[in-house]
Amino acid sequence: MSEFSDIKLTQMAKRAGCAAKHPPGYLLPLLGMLPALTDPNVLVGSATADDAAIYKLSDELALVMTTDFFTPIVDHPYDFGAIAATNALSDVYAMGGRPIAALNIVGFPEETLSPAVLGEILRGAAAKANEAGIDIIGGHTIKTDEPIFGLAVVGTVHPQKVLTNAGAQPGDLLILTKPLGLGIITTAAKQGQDKSGAIQAAIKVMTTLNRQAAEVIGELGAHAVTDVTGFGLLGHLRNMTAASQLGAHVWLDQVPVLPAAWDYVHAGIAPGGTHANLRFLADWATFAEDLTKEERLMLADAQTSGGLLVAVAADGAATMLTALHDAGVKDACIVGRLAAGQPGQMQVSRSKA
Ligand code: CO
Ligand code: CO
Repeated sequence: MSEFSDIKLTQMAKRAGCAAKHPPGYLLPLLGMLPALTDPNVLVGSATADDAAIYKLSDELALVMTTDFFTPIVDHPYDFGAIAATNALSDVYAMGGRPIAALNIVGFPEETLSPAVLGEILRGAAAKANEAGIDIIGGHTIKTDEPIFGLAVVGTVHPQKVLTNAGAQPGDLLILTKPLGLGIITTAAKQGQDKSGAIQAAIKVMTTLNRQAAEVIGELGAHAVTDVTGFGLLGHLRNMTAASQLGAHVWLDQVPVLPAAWDYVHAGIAPGGTHANLRFLADWATFAEDLTKEERLMLADAQTSGGLLVAVAADGAATMLTALHDAGVKDACIVGRLAAGQPGQMQVSRSKA
């Protein structure tokens, strides 16, 4: 792969990965202007800002449909393809589904990059698809100035076993399965400021499928699940609490974070998307006064291919946490609790007490 070592894909992207997403405040009013969905087979549509659409085919079978694509989040084309695929597959897992097939979505600049670079992107994606037990069976490519890559993924789920973001109950505990800081670290790397080489640890996290976590969660049962991507932990929790008509408490000192991300955020490094997320949260999150700007940014950090956020009955949370750790999901932590309250309102404190 040394022939690609001088490629700096992130320098071609104005914004990287899920941080290139429009913030929720941009999208929600627009979706509200569209005609209401009327097809009774739509079990989950756009109204609840969930991870994927669910379409019922029969009483035993529903399709999970999702697409995610973005500009380069890392320099190496193989890693970019693997991260984009892992991220796209995640939305199927976040609905309790099992992926069955995927399609490539490609924008590629034919003048500035050799086709072999696209080959590496596709190879990275194919490897992750295979790890997920599926093939990528088609796709579509257009010419663009910045490389763009992602997948459309189709999965299946039993209509009674869909894990939406709307089923959380008061008193449920919140489990997060991957550490935060991915947006901050990838931004440091893009700016040439990743002094400690933390990008390697971030790539490892971003190319870890949420498959193992989803299998444990599906087996033990959860009330609500979503994955943490471009809106950050608090942005995705806002969607879950709003959809579930609940409030939530989050305990900063329980939230797993890649250590270098603290160094970089204190050095003033964070993606534009992370700042936009924090501005959006002004109406939704109440931070304890002793939480610094950097700590608030971390909880809003735009993740790419982040972990699952799970609402689980309090009496089952310890069992689930142990099962996750045993399944290799070592970073999983209990990070907060759902509570009755104004839908979507979150209280953030330094610790549980
Ligand atoms: Co998602
Ligand atoms: Co998504």
